[in-house]
Amino acid sequence: MGVRWEFDVVFTLFLLLGLNILWLAQVCEGGFTSTYVRNGQLSRDMPLDSDVFRVPPGYNAPQQVHITQGDHVGKGVIVSWVTPDEPGSSTVLYWSEKSQLKNSAEGIVLTYKYFNYTSGYIHHCSIYDLEFDTKYYYEVGIGNSTRKFWFRTPPSVGPDVPYTFGLIGDLGQTHDSNRTLTHYELNPVKGQALLFVGDLSYADAYPFHDNTRWDTWGRFVERNAAYQPWIWTAGNHEVDFLPDIGEGKPFKPYKNRYHVPYRASKSTSPLWYSIKRASAYIIVLSSYSAYGIYTPQYKWLEKELLKVNRSETPWLIVIMHCPLYSSYVHHYMEGESMRVMYEQWFVKYKVDVVFAGHVHAYERSERISNIGYNIVNGICTPISDESAPVYITIGDGGNLEGLVTEMTEPQPSYSAYREASFGHGIFEIKNRSHAFYSWHRNQDGYAVEADSTWLHNRYWNPSPEQSSIAIL
Ligand SMILES: [Fe+2]
Repeated sequence: MGVRWEFDVVFTLFLLLGLNILWLAQVCEGGFTSTYVRNGQLSRDMPLDSDVFRVPPGYNAPQQVHITQGDHVGKGVIVSWVTPDEPGSSTVLYWSEKSQLKNSAEGIVLTYKYFNYTSGYIHHCSIYDLEFDTKYYYEVGIGNSTRKFWFRTPPSVGPDVPYTFGLIGDLGQTHDSNRTLTHYELNPVKGQALLFVGDLSYADAYPFHDNTRWDTWGRFVERNAAYQPWIWTAGNHEVDFLPDIGEGKPFKPYKNRYHVPYRASKSTSPLWYSIKRASAYIIVLSSYSAYGIYTPQYKWLEKELLKVNRSETPWLIVIMHCPLYSSYVHHYMEGESMRVMYEQWFVKYKVDVVFAGHVHAYERSERISNIGYNIVNGICTPISDESAPVYITIGDGGNLEGLVTEMTEPQPSYSAYREASFGHGIFEIKNRSHAFYSWHRNQDGYAVEADSTWLHNRYWNPSPEQSSIAIL
């Protein structure tokens, strides 16, 4: 009898296993784990003579052009670029499509050395007091080498302003990176600004952190980053800490190349800062800077959260590199100490969504919190919490380290959807009460949403979101 019972159990298990193979996805204890079939090969970096890395023609022509928000409200832009041969000009000429009258702004130029590498001439020019919701053209460079681009400023800050953010993380410069960027560009839902969640070039994967790979990456992303602001977050691949070769100053290449408007939000470091854009208040944090009590980042964030006026900017978004919740095996619990420090604030201030990268895969959580633990009470399990953010890991840009596929099993109940595929995200704010979030994997058509969810703004629309699963 016992043997027959065991046989039945084993047979049933095999049957279930077979069904799982037939199905493309399996539903676990938690949410949804997609078993989408993908190429398991590590992606190679694109060859240096690829067209994506092409040096623009002309003597000392500006290259690696990129823009980011330049003030706190979206009326400013920082234009950055590199001239390879000599300093040239740090002037930006710019004009509105309405006026045609050319204005000029004067920037700064700098260089840095990293071991045996000397950078080109890196220019940063801040333009202020632009008109909202206006297309501007701008020019950098001199004479025959002048290059012209354009951008559109966001609408004035306000609670019902629709606005669409793209999301990319851990991009690198492989063929997969190019696919991710192309999918973002060709998505029929157009991102108006990009939230980049850290790990840019992966130059540190090369001998002596070969900084020429920072240059190639800058040329690769120019086709998008020169036309819409990329909001930068520093990841571990930006630390570039290598004291053995005399490079003991963390974040040196990143800080020289990617300037952000941190002073506008009273931050003392470019590694953490905030901006308002349309109906969103965006807080950028640094996973690799001190964040404990009494540290500059902690003190800044403590004050910063009090400043957010949800009547003006209903959507409160936090971006960082290392996720606070991730159910993948690789990098498991690396964000735990920051979670202990900051999660209670995210719940208290009803942060809508926290975007992170680092884990080279995709995951979206339910609204959960885990803030009841006090060392002795044993309350240390994530629970459903409508005041908590949704946590989204989008470190799936496609860098040379490849995907992480190993997941903790069973899928935790807080994990709503997870999949090890490359892709990008779109966060589409519709009005003060609703936003639509979608994730787009590179293997699909440009319009396909591989995962999506509506987010209800808890400040303006306190009714709970529909949840597809029961939370423990
Ligand atoms: Fe990372």
